[in-house]
Amino acid sequence: MQDRVTKELDGKQWLRLCRSVSVSERQGFRVEVDIEHDLALFRIDGVVRCVTNVCPHKRIALIYDGYISDGTVTCPMHGWRFDICTGANTVGGGGLRTYEVKEESGWVWLLES
Ligand code: FES
Repeated sequence: MQDRVTKELDGKQWLRLCRSVSVSERQGFRVEVDIEHDLALFRIDGVVRCVTNVCPHKRIALIYDGYISDGTVTCPMHGWRFDICTGANTVGGGGLRTYEVKEESGWVWLLES
């Protein structure tokens, strides 16, 4: 868990997640905001994307550690594969919840609902 820092941007409230440099094209990055928000961040074609870190198959929080290829991440446990931008399961079945994030001033921010 981390200190809670929020900011208003474009008339919306955003929660600071991590530094932008922490999210690369090669490796997912995990941020545990609270008990309900265990998140996985990825950088796809230069844009930071955010999905739940919890795989819908067995509820294991390892999506951030999955194999990244062609805009998808493959869960390291049993191989379910998800589109990182939409959260859709590429072979059918449950998908990943997606979250709106943006980069601002060298940080990644999560839109608060
Ligand atoms: S826990 Fe992710 S595929 Fe089984």
